[in-house]
Amino acid sequence: MNAYVTGNTIKQLRESRHLTQLQLAERIGVSSKTVSKWETGKGLPDISLLQPLAQALGISVIELMNGEHITNRNVSGNLLRGQFYICPVCGNIIHSTGSAVVSCCGITLPPQEAEMPDAAHGLTVENVEDEHFVTVRHEMSKGHFISFIAFVTSDRLQLVKLYPEGDAQTRLQLRGRGYLYYGCNRHGLFKVKV
Ligand SMILES: [Fe+2]
Repeated sequence: MNAYVTGNTIKQLRESRHLTQLQLAERIGVSSKTVSKWETGKGLPDISLLQPLAQALGISVIELMNGEHITNRNVSGNLLRGQFYICPVCGNIIHSTGSAVVSCCGITLPPQEAEMPDAAHGLTVENVEDEHFVTVRHEMSKGHFISFIAFVTSDRLQLVKLYPEGDAQTRLQLRGRGYLYYGCNRHGLFKVKV
């Protein structure tokens, strides 16, 4: 059943809050019989009751509709699970730490899927004192260039914007394990584990 809220959810939430059907009913201004109907799948709360019902159960409407109490698990806290979005119109580069709907220049952008570099997008990393000199062996003409190089670890993102007719290289502090990401305006996103 694809109801926006299930009887089971209401029942479980009510019981976990040690409320009787009558107590819950009184909080939202319905009869205990109505609550009983919802819980046994014989009826659904009117959409206008979702907010008071959620409030009476001490959760958000979204939690009520999802049937779970959402705790801040910080699931998006690991940057390694983040995504890059690159606008094909203006070249905007957006990084999100979790799933997102991203739009730019009127287009909804899909998350870029990073590939292992091919021969035309090879990368070298040289140690220079406490930094690393990262070079992408790639042309930097106006029509075909590397637009950025980024280093992503679980808790840090360093992103360097590159421009056509500049150099396809940068210095980065590669602290910890992570991934080097770099984007070609024609061939998409590449990544290398470091
Ligand atoms: Fe390319």
